[in-house]
Amino acid sequence: MRNMHPVTGFALSIALLGTSFTSVLAAEPTIRELAKERGRYIGTILNSEWFNDDIEPEFEEIHKTQFNVVVAENEMKFDATEPSENEFNFAKGDKMVEYAKANKIRVRGHALAWHSQVAGWVSSNYAGQKEKLLAVLKNHIEKVVGHYKGQVAEWDVVNEAVNDEYNAGWRSTNSVWYEGIGAEFLDSAFVWAHAADPDAELCYNDYSLEWGLREGSKASFVVEQVKRWKQNNIPITCVGTQTHIEIAHETTPQNVRALAKALNELGVVLNITELDIGFPKGSAGQLTAADYAKQGHLYRQFMDVFLEEPNMGEFVIWGLTDAHSWLDEQQGKTEGLLYDKQYKPKPAYDSIMVSLKEHPAADVVSPYGDVEIVDPIDSTGTDSTDVGDTTQVLKRAGLAGSFSMHVSGHTLFIAGTQSAKVDVFDLQGRPVFRGKCEKGSVELSDISEGLYVVRMRSGSASLTKRIAIK
Ligand code: XIL
Repeated sequence: MRNMHPVTGFALSIALLGTSFTSVLAAEPTIRELAKERGRYIGTILNSEWFNDDIEPEFEEIHKTQFNVVVAENEMKFDATEPSENEFNFAKGDKMVEYAKANKIRVRGHALAWHSQVAGWVSSNYAGQKEKLLAVLKNHIEKVVGHYKGQVAEWDVVNEAVNDEYNAGWRSTNSVWYEGIGAEFLDSAFVWAHAADPDAELCYNDYSLEWGLREGSKASFVVEQVKRWKQNNIPITCVGTQTHIEIAHETTPQNVRALAKALNELGVVLNITELDIGFPKGSAGQLTAADYAKQGHLYRQFMDVFLEEPNMGEFVIWGLTDAHSWLDEQQGKTEGLLYDKQYKPKPAYDSIMVSLKEHPAADVVSPYGDVEIVDPIDSTGTDSTDVGDTTQVLKRAGLAGSFSMHVSGHTLFIAGTQSAKVDVFDLQGRPVFRGKCEKGSVELSDISEGLYVVRMRSGSASLTKRIAIK
């Protein structure tokens, strides 16, 4: 090829286009491929129209090609799963789980304890009756999480429990759970969910957390609660920031970064769980290329933050196409997603791709011990637990759910066990540290900055994870 005449090269390109146009196009990676290489999950909801078989065929085709995490828009909420007392309906949730399995997509469960979309029988039968409500919530969580044990990777255990006051506190009105039980419903919900599936990630999820950490803000209040939960061994592993924002909200990506950093101090993952960036409703016809570029720029900044913060794991957009979005239906907003009404990718899609490509896999840390990160040059090693060379897989083995690690500076912290054998490898698989961790942490002071793979073993359990030493 080196000495090829330019005309010959041109003719060859034309020939290639003529014979295999689709395979040339197919060479462009999808979002999910780039996400997977980076040990991260990027996804969107399955709209209610999908569950009702009332959606265009393009929807599913794009959904499964582009994304590797999925959430049900409404079908795993309380009123959907337990419409009558102790009578559960898992049909739609099961449909999603089957779809996810067939397409190797991670499932987020949304949501267990929420003041909204609770079945009517809960308040009509039990409003204000603490013991009864505790029993109802416990039974609901046990049955739902138990049904999906091992299949739903992560639950929004509690959704939107903080109020919208200037000095944030618990939402104390219009919440059957808070009014009847008090704030202990949250702690209990996490404990019950953990008992029902000890391997599931468990999140507190809320909106307006992207408004910064000023004293009294919703985000600060949540960070304080997470601190308390961690101190009291309440099994929370993640926070979800919904991030339903508008095009004018230019400061929000940096606020999400600050929140990620605050939660990293506590060993908790931050996920973006319901992102949409809407324009005012009615503006749709007048939007210019510059407006869509601006929207793309905001999407991109969120993606940059997501890929740069080591404790962010999931980036979920609340809808795939502007043709089906709660923004138009309920929020007085419009055009907030990655694909337009005709399923054409918008500049926002391209911006996300640019961000992914500009954050090479080697620089992105995965917060999950259980993510299979297959090196793009060797996709055959998926079953290996040996991380002794760079093409291997990071894989959960043993008790990963009760056993975790995170790094701050040069200190490796271990939770879930007091002592463990620790091996650290560089990305070429060379051992750079071998030792024992006693009392929950170990100093890796002789290791220089960079990316490594840590394997920790305790009894018959082991956990392997990529870390960054900074
Ligand atoms: C929305 C759905 O998109 C709508 O179809 C439904 O009518 C109301 O709920 N925060 C949440 C989501 O946690 O469950 C909400 O989803 C959007 C706001």
